[in-house]
Amino acid sequence: MSKRRLRSQDWFDNPDHADMTALYLERFMNYGLTPEELTEGRPIIGIAQSGSDLSPCNRHHIDLAKRVRDGIRDAGGIPIEFPTHPIFENCRRPTAALDRNLAYLGLVELLHGYPLDGVVLTTGCDKTTPAAIMAAATVDIPAIVLSGGAMLDSVHEGRLSGSGTVIWKSRRRYAAGEIDRAQFLEAALESAPSIGHCNTMGTASTLNALAEAIGLSLTGCAAIPAAYRERGQMAYRTGKRAVELVEEDLLPSKILTRDAILNAVRVNAAIGGSTNAQPHLAAIAEAAGVELRHEDWQIHGYDIPLLADVQPAGRFLSERFHRAGGVPAIMWELAEAGVLETGCATVTGQTIGENLKGREARDREVIRAYNTPLMERAGFRVLSGNLFDFAIMKTSVISEDFRRRFLSEPGQENCFEGQAVVFDGSEDYHARINDPALEIDERSILVIRGSGPLGWPGAAEVVNMQPPDRLIRAGISSLPTIGDGRQSGTSDSPSIVHASPESADGGGLAVLQTGDTIRIDLNSGRCDMLLDEAELNRRRQETQPQVPVSQTPWQKIFRQEASQLSDGAGLRSAKGFHRIARTLPRH
Ligand code: FES
Ligand code: MG
Repeated sequence: MSKRRLRSQDWFDNPDHADMTALYLERFMNYGLTPEELTEGRPIIGIAQSGSDLSPCNRHHIDLAKRVRDGIRDAGGIPIEFPTHPIFENCRRPTAALDRNLAYLGLVELLHGYPLDGVVLTTGCDKTTPAAIMAAATVDIPAIVLSGGAMLDSVHEGRLSGSGTVIWKSRRRYAAGEIDRAQFLEAALESAPSIGHCNTMGTASTLNALAEAIGLSLTGCAAIPAAYRERGQMAYRTGKRAVELVEEDLLPSKILTRDAILNAVRVNAAIGGSTNAQPHLAAIAEAAGVELRHEDWQIHGYDIPLLADVQPAGRFLSERFHRAGGVPAIMWELAEAGVLETGCATVTGQTIGENLKGREARDREVIRAYNTPLMERAGFRVLSGNLFDFAIMKTSVISEDFRRRFLSEPGQENCFEGQAVVFDGSEDYHARINDPALEIDERSILVIRGSGPLGWPGAAEVVNMQPPDRLIRAGISSLPTIGDGRQSGTSDSPSIVHASPESADGGGLAVLQTGDTIRIDLNSGRCDMLLDEAELNRRRQETQPQVPVSQTPWQKIFRQEASQLSDGAGLRSAKGFHRIARTLPRH
């Protein structure tokens, strides 16, 4: 029996609505729950189940939920498991980005409209994590994140070959004629050796790391591989802790502060995290009613060094990262260096600083000390200019070779001027990239538009375009790229992504033409097409934004509702809904 009056008691133990209480209770009986379990004032803990056959990266949550239930029961709570909208990053067309807001909306309704006192959020594949956190932030009932964990380390031909990253590397080898189609497929398929999500520091591992950095997971949760016995133990402890959170009334709103979000920005840089962290953290901040400004990525993230030697920015994969100490070891370094807010509250009931005691890295090959990093200044470079108001570039994946060829001209360090080659969407790119008439050379900048939230719709992971096959054969494996879409978190391409506003929303990319000169200046953060104002104005007047026809009702609603990537691509109508659990739904 809880010491506090619980939210669920308004359904199950409400003398003013005895008639309704009978209705609320009776159908839970038909699978064997007893009336006592629901009416004794025990916390009812939801398990928001994100795993299914359509969500292979999260599917083992179906098994993990048994341990979550054990933990909830042992702490005196009642588990109620229910499905969330499935999200499968690689398979969902036109893009899984459409699903984050849909899963968010669905979960808000479930958490608000049912007799739940707290919730375990099961997360994994990219957008399942931000969707769940956004919903918990909007509703504000006690919530705790249980990551499913990454796959085991994958090996191909004796080398670590991380999820996604091996595909981007292999398609370059395929284009260069070094491997055939069968070998390409084999490399890709061998990169998935077990249950779990991507084993690189792609968007899935990144967002689960950031959930922990924010304080929403138990310490050490994010990096435990899915198949390790520790994962089941973490599931048990998470279930137990969920009940205690209800007793303590430790709400997401106490954890999701601006300081906590800025900690996530810092950790993202130190782990070489996914560019997708930017819109997702923006959307989480929005749902929590916390300010996260565009320049925060620059001010708080850019100067943080790269500490995790994990693909795509580094060499290793999930297992070595976990054994080296995982996210707490990264945060320990940042705390020691004085660049982390250690006073933030977390679901453990202790502060970040308290959680990090004794969490120093155990393997210095994989997790570097702050003073001897893999790379200085590894955060996102925020860019603006006449092509867009906002875009980011992930500097931790700029290779030495790329730096030497494009960013090292004497007197012009970190600057590049080249001719635009413009593609309207990925179909156009694939149709024309090898067309000799385009005359693409090492002074070209590949640009893709029509791939943002409205244009695609949802914003596609297409900006990491590879050069024409003949350039790859000549040893040029990447060119500067710019786009209003996204790129996979597993990509090793230093693309300029999330150009906002996008071309379909009247952004500068819409008037760019093949042959125009673009100047990128990473020192000042400018990215401009070098055209005079008169020419720019003439083109602006002549250009109509192109928005394709919506194929489904949700695509149409998404297009009407979604903000630009700079602001998180959340739903305009969701703005202003905070802590809605304070008001109970009507009987
Ligand atoms: Fe699901 Fe990478 S595709 S985690
Ligand atoms: Mg992705």
